[in-house]
Amino acid sequence: MREEIRDNNLMQYPFMNINMNLESRVDDLLGRLTLEEKFSLCSGRQQWYTSPIKRLGVKSFAMFDGPHGVRPGARIEKRVTYFPSAICRASTWNPELSYEFGMAIAQEVREVGGNMLLAPGVNIQRSSMCGRTFEYQTEDPYLNSKLAVSVIRGIQSQRIAACIKHYICNNQETNRKKVNVNVSERALREIYFPVFKAAVEKADVWSIMGSYNKINGIYGCAHKELLNNILMEEWGFKGFVVSDWGATDFIKTTEECVHAGMSLEMPRTVLYKRKKLREAYNQGMITEVELNNIVKRLIRVMFLTGLFDPEDLVPLGSRNTPEHQDITKRIAEEGIVLLKNMKNTLPLDFNKIKSIAVLGPNMNIKPSADPDGTSSSSVYPLYEVTPLEGMINRCKGRIVIENSASNADVTIIFAGLNHKLGMDAEDQDKDSFDLSEEQVKLINQTVEVNENTIVVLINGSPIGMNGWIENIPAVVEAWYSGMEAGNAIADVIFGDINPSGKLPITFPQNLSDSPAHKSRRTFPGNDEVHYEEEIFVGYRYFDKNNINPLFPFGFGLSYTKFEYKNLKINKTKFSRKDILVIELDIMNTGTYAGAEVVQLYVQDIESSIERPPKELKGFKKTFLKPNEASHLKFKLRDIDFAYYDDKSHSWKIEKGYFNLLIGSSSRDIRLEAQVNYNGPTELVN
Ligand code: BGC
Repeated sequence: MREEIRDNNLMQYPFMNINMNLESRVDDLLGRLTLEEKFSLCSGRQQWYTSPIKRLGVKSFAMFDGPHGVRPGARIEKRVTYFPSAICRASTWNPELSYEFGMAIAQEVREVGGNMLLAPGVNIQRSSMCGRTFEYQTEDPYLNSKLAVSVIRGIQSQRIAACIKHYICNNQETNRKKVNVNVSERALREIYFPVFKAAVEKADVWSIMGSYNKINGIYGCAHKELLNNILMEEWGFKGFVVSDWGATDFIKTTEECVHAGMSLEMPRTVLYKRKKLREAYNQGMITEVELNNIVKRLIRVMFLTGLFDPEDLVPLGSRNTPEHQDITKRIAEEGIVLLKNMKNTLPLDFNKIKSIAVLGPNMNIKPSADPDGTSSSSVYPLYEVTPLEGMINRCKGRIVIENSASNADVTIIFAGLNHKLGMDAEDQDKDSFDLSEEQVKLINQTVEVNENTIVVLINGSPIGMNGWIENIPAVVEAWYSGMEAGNAIADVIFGDINPSGKLPITFPQNLSDSPAHKSRRTFPGNDEVHYEEEIFVGYRYFDKNNINPLFPFGFGLSYTKFEYKNLKINKTKFSRKDILVIELDIMNTGTYAGAEVVQLYVQDIESSIERPPKELKGFKKTFLKPNEASHLKFKLRDIDFAYYDDKSHSWKIEKGYFNLLIGSSSRDIRLEAQVNYNGPTELVN
């Protein structure tokens, strides 16, 4: 497929000259394209490619899924590195690891001949029931932005385009190609936009994928207001918009997408068929300026990824390297969350245990492959260490692994979900919030015969735990944590790794406690879904309504303890453009080395409109040995205290008092201080 165009005559074109600046090269190529060639660039060819233009040496541009490793596609059946799911990576709260992940996955994309990775997936985790919650990062816009920016920078450092998806409000799989999301401007601005805005402004993302669904009556790929006006004009997006695969199927006209600024229709040609584009052009429905705009955006990214440069000038690709495998392991180790640990059940002491019973449907899970074959995040890995294999590797020659709980010193049950349709899978939301009856039975019967029963969950979204968690002394959330999962889990169980993962999403006690699940109207709707919870997504809702979640946002236990102290703020009164500097010390007062994620939330105490009781505005992860302390510094600006006013369509910060809440989770605040804002109310966007 990937034509090698090595024609010396082509080298004479200025756009082939690597010493010329990017914009001049882009303009030169654009100027040479005929109308028909421009039309032909705007639609896909054979699922993952654009059409080449041999006359000018324009190779086809290759786009591959997905967020957890290069997806096996029609032509790529090569084995690759399988990275932990996005929710696991987000649980690390470690932007540097996200950067390393981005670099590594981009190297694999390059190695298999790709130019763009269809990732990261960043839709807000509005509901535990969304089939793709595992593929997305978090319910919180701030954490989402920090991590996505790092992933994108990592990917693009290799001159591979990142394609952040799905813009916007693709928060469910039910009826995803048709549903109309009714969402307020304030919710868009405060909850759903920030990650895309940050991707543009802070990471200069090269591509954005338009979503399947409608947003307030208009399909994502035809939404002029959201694409042209906000994404491009307001935020300054210079990259190109690609449709989700088949997202134009129900859009009526070609010109709607062109007016909105969509450059590339994938994978088939429907609205951007040459004939259709030609007709629209000839009838004056689209202008040359508009056509040039969408084509220019696409070819600009082709240049950025090195499509017109000699191969020795673009970064080398690599695949299945020990470095990539090491990154997957580190993400898994930092992403695993310790949810419950009564009487220090964990870590297990190697010297005190002779036998462990390993049970449960997920002890042999290899989650990379998608059994139903529909998922764009499935991967074909070089190897995959199952939970059972991880335990066997770790215990070899020292602890007997068996399958009967009654005789064992300790029992570990690997429970959870998998990627079958109706569970954590694309194209369908989850059928059930709870573990299957058989799993609950297995857990409860096992703990009756062996009180040292630990449950390790392998899943990608919150699940209900009523009816069993109260009986179990220790519970670990291990997610789908990549090809090194089994080894990472064993390391956590035996304390070689001290867990430091924190939940990027609230775990509700009951599904009906969650904001999106008030009625069918709010999730999943029929043809219409109503985001009635407004800005109160995730912990913002639980806090506002004083509902105790099963596990709050930001929560995760450790084998050690941390003390927070010496909070200092540079000023207690602040105004527009001031920078608040917040400093504190954190000390590891326990006996294990470990990492803590220090979280900073802002709370508006006096507000004329309803605001969330707290919002994450900073976090820092710090690694400390026993008795070691570190000094942390956060900076806040006026915009961090602002809300979006639907009426004036602008950000506002009201005069008055705010609390700064610093803690180990959204419900475990350790230090608090008050500051007073006395500047003007209106803020520029
Ligand atoms: C998914 C995208 C994916 C695309 C290509 C779509 O169904 O929603 O996330 O990138 O397919 O596989």
